[in-house]
Amino acid sequence: MANHWDQYWQQGFLTSFCGDYLGNYQDEFRRFWIDAFRNESISAMLDVATGNLSIPLLAVEKLPSNADIYATDLAHISKDLIAKKNKIAKDKLARINLRTGESAEELEYPSNSFDLVTSMFGFEYANKQKAIQSIAQVMKKGGKFIAIAHYENSLIIKKNKHSMSCLKEILYKQKFFNHFINLSKVMGDVRGKEDLYSLKFNKKAEKIRKKINDSLHYLESKYGEVFLETGIFDFVQYFFGRGITGTVKNRAAIINSKLKELEIHLLRLKDLIGAAFTEKELEQIDSIAVQHNMKVTKKAPFYKGQDLVAIELELVKLISD
Ligand SMILES: C[S@@+](CC[C@H](N)C(=O)[O-])C[C@H]1O[C@@H](n2cnc3c(N)ncnc32)[C@H](O)[C@@H]1O
Repeated sequence: MANHWDQYWQQGFLTSFCGDYLGNYQDEFRRFWIDAFRNESISAMLDVATGNLSIPLLAVEKLPSNADIYATDLAHISKDLIAKKNKIAKDKLARINLRTGESAEELEYPSNSFDLVTSMFGFEYANKQKAIQSIAQVMKKGGKFIAIAHYENSLIIKKNKHSMSCLKEILYKQKFFNHFINLSKVMGDVRGKEDLYSLKFNKKAEKIRKKINDSLHYLESKYGEVFLETGIFDFVQYFFGRGITGTVKNRAAIINSKLKELEIHLLRLKDLIGAAFTEKELEQIDSIAVQHNMKVTKKAPFYKGQDLVAIELELVKLISD
């Protein structure tokens, strides 16, 4: 995994849905987890691939105060940052025992530690078979592994595939940012009104501006909302507004920063789409569970309203290790 998750979590979001949620999960996702935490007999739980602790924070709300709450992720996660950016009381976070830099494939907790292991759009990012083996190892007999996982036929995955095609087209086929770099070079350093005035009559610059315009129209008509979400229009507005004056070097920094942002976004999308359960993987999960002394007790589509958004899994550990 590239360190794009480290960078993502540093922004402070509690979930992986950027600004879609103000704070933690709401709606059906929240209700699902609150229900899962109603079980009074949970004495120790672990949330795998926890991110900025969205699920453990729901557990803190619901589990008895003597239940131990553990959380783990491969990425670097900072409780201080989560507290600061989300105004969460430190004592709430203090209840969560967090370990970072730890893969779901190699959980380093003693065998038979947890009555509940949870994962929200998480363990499937690891090698699924190895992660299930490692999770089974740390579960107590009778313990449950409950997960909401990405699924190839979900709306989330379909939409993100569309976003991925859009980003690939912007970055590689249209070479959108090359036009800006070329334009900026043709413009040269723009310092005052005179430079701006002569730019109006610069034929080479005009030609590149036209290419940019054509590209924008093409991308917007092909990708619609998904293209708008890339923030390209804001970038273009800034470039031709406040960004137009200044040196070639300054403008290159502005262009490269937007380019980098979209490249990182593309990496995250590739990761996400690669993680989603395929039909075939879902079929195999029963036999993987059996190999590790578990039984699949639930494997069902998860809906938000009318939309299929994920797959819900529940596995029970049959004997202790
Ligand atoms: C979509 S996010 C979900 C985070 C969190 N569960 C939530 O719902 O907000 C996926 C998380 O999986 C983590 N991850 C990716 N590969 C992993 C692995 N092999 N082992 C553990 N965590 C991993 C990433 O660092 C990221 O935090």
